[in-house]
Amino acid sequence: MSSSGEAELLHTFRGIPFTTRSSPELLKSLDSFDAREDDVLLVSYPKSGTHWLAGVITKLYKTQVTITSPIEFGDISRLEELNKLSSKRIIPTHLDYNMLPPNFKNKKCKMIYISRNPKDTAVSMFHYYRDNPNLPTVDTWTAFFDLFLKGNVVCGSWFDHFLSWEEHEDEKNILFLFYEDMKKDLPKVVKKITLFLNLNVSDSDIQDICKKSSFSEMKNDSEKENSDPSHTVCALTSNRKLIFRKGAVGDWKNYFTPKQNIRFQEIFNEKMKLSKM
Ligand code: A3P
Repeated sequence: MSSSGEAELLHTFRGIPFTTRSSPELLKSLDSFDAREDDVLLVSYPKSGTHWLAGVITKLYKTQVTITSPIEFGDISRLEELNKLSSKRIIPTHLDYNMLPPNFKNKKCKMIYISRNPKDTAVSMFHYYRDNPNLPTVDTWTAFFDLFLKGNVVCGSWFDHFLSWEEHEDEKNILFLFYEDMKKDLPKVVKKITLFLNLNVSDSDIQDICKKSSFSEMKNDSEKENSDPSHTVCALTSNRKLIFRKGAVGDWKNYFTPKQNIRFQEIFNEKMKLSKM
């Protein structure tokens, strides 16, 4: 990673690296953010399938909903814009549980957490680092692998992020989803989401929504929509073209050396020893 790039593009807030697209003033003022009871949070560590899930969820509502910019994105004036929105808000975020504005927790807002095999997440994030001008330069996969394992990447350690949310998995207002389950049986996951959000969507509509949410459909749409610069749910870019890369399970096997796999597994076992995963 080039150190000048890192210095310019990232800053650390409460121990977690953020890009300069999240201003320190905004991050500070999140503590007093005013949540609404009907807000829905869409939570993820970057590269876990956030856009896929957002694409599905927005198609489930028959009433007007707004998928906002991520709550940690921008400068402080963004929060004022969020406050002014009159429609129901679906708010994406990559924040870990501890940094989430307390108001969302107190008001028991519904939150959907999507997770993905961290090995595939790491590979996806490696490409994002390479393609996304808002992120520092990484020269090689090996260099990125080390940064990822140490949590020296934007949004911090995958393990800390996942564990901070998993601790709250059993709370009624939190739904845990996995990218791999969406790949395996999307209609089943979508049904689960409709039940969680109390939405009445017929099975045939679910089938239709799943077809429209396939990787190829979403990638095509992103190419058409790319003129809209505000159209991502990731605080790290506004360019939707950077999101839809391969959309596969198990791509890590094309990158991890056997040695890296053993090292990853050892760290995974250690960090996740209290996890149910
Ligand atoms: P890859 O880089 O492995 O292809 P996020 O939205 O959280 O940034 O996650 C991006 C990842 O989700 C990318 O992974 C992207 O290709 C994948 N993705 C996006 N839409 C998808 C879809 N409809 N089906 C499967 N994967 C999808």
